[in-house]
Amino acid sequence: MTQKIRKAVFPAAGLGTRFLPATKSSPKEMLPLVDKPLIQYSVEEAVASGIESILIITGRDKTAIENHFDISFELEQVLQERGKQEMFELVRAVSDLAKISYTRQKQALGLGHAILQAKDFVGDESFAVLLADDVIDAETPALKQLIDVYEKYDAPVLATMQVAGEAISRFGVIDAEEIEPNVSKIKNIVEKPKFDDAPSDMAVIGRYVFTPELFDAIERSETGAGGEYQVADAMRILLDEGKPFYAVRLDGVRHDAGDKLGFLIATVEFALKRTDLAPEFKAYLKSLNL
Ligand code: G1P
Repeated sequence: MTQKIRKAVFPAAGLGTRFLPATKSSPKEMLPLVDKPLIQYSVEEAVASGIESILIITGRDKTAIENHFDISFELEQVLQERGKQEMFELVRAVSDLAKISYTRQKQALGLGHAILQAKDFVGDESFAVLLADDVIDAETPALKQLIDVYEKYDAPVLATMQVAGEAISRFGVIDAEEIEPNVSKIKNIVEKPKFDDAPSDMAVIGRYVFTPELFDAIERSETGAGGEYQVADAMRILLDEGKPFYAVRLDGVRHDAGDKLGFLIATVEFALKRTDLAPEFKAYLKSLNL
């Protein structure tokens, strides 16, 4: 029996430079996709995948995230006084979503360093990591797809998708051998390779299930791409030591909502799925003389 994955870590200390000036004083994780902040989508995905306890790694100017998942006493009181029961329930449900705690990453030294801040929270359990920028629209929650593979092979798993052309350089990229449809055993991983050096077209997307061995590997790793501690480098240490790692090609659509164009596309896609908005929004889009 594998250990149940109960804990999830959300690195959210990044500066959000791809979305300036909107992210100058408010976190990119709070950018609204239709009417929910980005991070709420992946928190809901984690909960739907069986996660019971969440640690969000924050940094300066990130208090809006904590406030969002907390009870808003004044707002709730006003909504109740005005008889807006449905809205009251909507805002209360956000604070009831999951058990969430927070820790600060004092310096932005990379994804590996961010995850390392979760060492005490995780203890000796296997755990999930979700990057909230990657909003994944999938019938089976993306993290659940990884957990199913973790349970089958009793080893860490990450999510991938195929990326064509030069864009591959924006991702971690794996070299892997397919062992069953959509599941591969990873041989190597490189963070943000040049197009010519990319070992394949299989890009890593922001969902992982790790064993606690990862922390020791991060501590042993050196700074890599961008002068930062990369989780991919820590993974390569474990791979070189013969530790197994698996990759799941996700069944679903991934949006890079931390990028301006990706965010716009995600907004349109999600709005078109909303029964309260879609008819008028679709009519508007059709009226555009593009
Ligand atoms: C991170 C990871 C990278 C992965 C990407 C997916 O990079 O380091 O391996 O491909 O997320 O979104 P970032 O986009 O934070 O630079």
